[in-house]
Amino acid sequence: MGVKNISADQYTSPTVFAQESENLFSLHWWLIGSDAELDQKGSYITAEIGGARIFVIRDEEGGINGFHNICRHRAGPIVVDNKGICSGKLLVCQYHGWSYDFAGRLVNAHDQTASCDKAQLGLTPVRVGVWNRMVFVCLSDCAPSLLQWLGPVADRVTRFLGAESFLYHDSIEKVASTNWKCYGDNACEGYHVGMVHKTLGQATENEKIDLYCEPDGKYVWFDVTYSNTLVDQSRSGKGLWIYKFPGLLIHCSEFGYNGECVMPVSAGSTNINRWFWINQNALSEAMVDKQDLLRSACQVIDEDIRICEQVFVNLSSGFAQSGPLSQVNEPGTIFFQQLVNDL
Ligand code: FES
Ligand SMILES: [Fe+2]
Repeated sequence: MGVKNISADQYTSPTVFAQESENLFSLHWWLIGSDAELDQKGSYITAEIGGARIFVIRDEEGGINGFHNICRHRAGPIVVDNKGICSGKLLVCQYHGWSYDFAGRLVNAHDQTASCDKAQLGLTPVRVGVWNRMVFVCLSDCAPSLLQWLGPVADRVTRFLGAESFLYHDSIEKVASTNWKCYGDNACEGYHVGMVHKTLGQATENEKIDLYCEPDGKYVWFDVTYSNTLVDQSRSGKGLWIYKFPGLLIHCSEFGYNGECVMPVSAGSTNINRWFWINQNALSEAMVDKQDLLRSACQVIDEDIRICEQVFVNLSSGFAQSGPLSQVNEPGTIFFQQLVNDL
């Protein structure tokens, strides 16, 4: 008896999602943005991780601090926009106006300042790490450091990118009505590529893909060789794709790299955000428009989301039975599902 896909219930059950969530959100780091979005004092970005609303902000000394977006008075929100710049030197709660500095210290509690022990009422911190221009957060103090968590992934990406310099370009945000594991299953195999990504000439004859599963670092990587195609000039040369369990994808090519966060929201909803960095020299030399990179990536993501949403509807129908997984075509998916089982 070979390996079977995990059961439909594992994807669709809110109870399973709640059980997974504990370890998902406490043991792992989550990509939330680019450091270019934090280029000034007071600039901040927000994220929602397992129901926790957090923000990270560039402080007066140039450091980056992360906090729960929860006032210590009666849980009002501190910042309300998804990203922005805090004018002035204080973060002001939107409910009754308590104010905090960029290090999270309570500065003024309005009429209650005198009766407050301000030292005990700072914003609750969240761990922040920056690697390769990507900003990550982690909700738990027990998880390893960001670099330990990335493990061999960091070296592999750094080796591929070499000494080139990259500029932050743009980001895209998608909401997928599917379970995060449907997206993960899909991202860990190249078996679907010829069927799902026909439109960009990304058929299997145009890309040679070798896949490796790495228990050390819990990731799958693809060694990709693109055949130049007139349909999509942004895909040429060599590529490195990585799925780092549970929710980080990194795609590198001669034109730059991107980082993608697969953020589970509920059993049936997943946010997909991707940030792009470009190698402008390589793009100019090959006469590839940087917007083509985004267009191409968007189309591929939309195709993946569409198929994963349809799979999720079928899994939810009550009629889907677990089928066999192939050691030849789907070793990455088998590996991904083992990691899910070990969560
Ligand atoms: S909840 Fe923030 S000041 Fe009251
Ligand atoms: Fe795909």
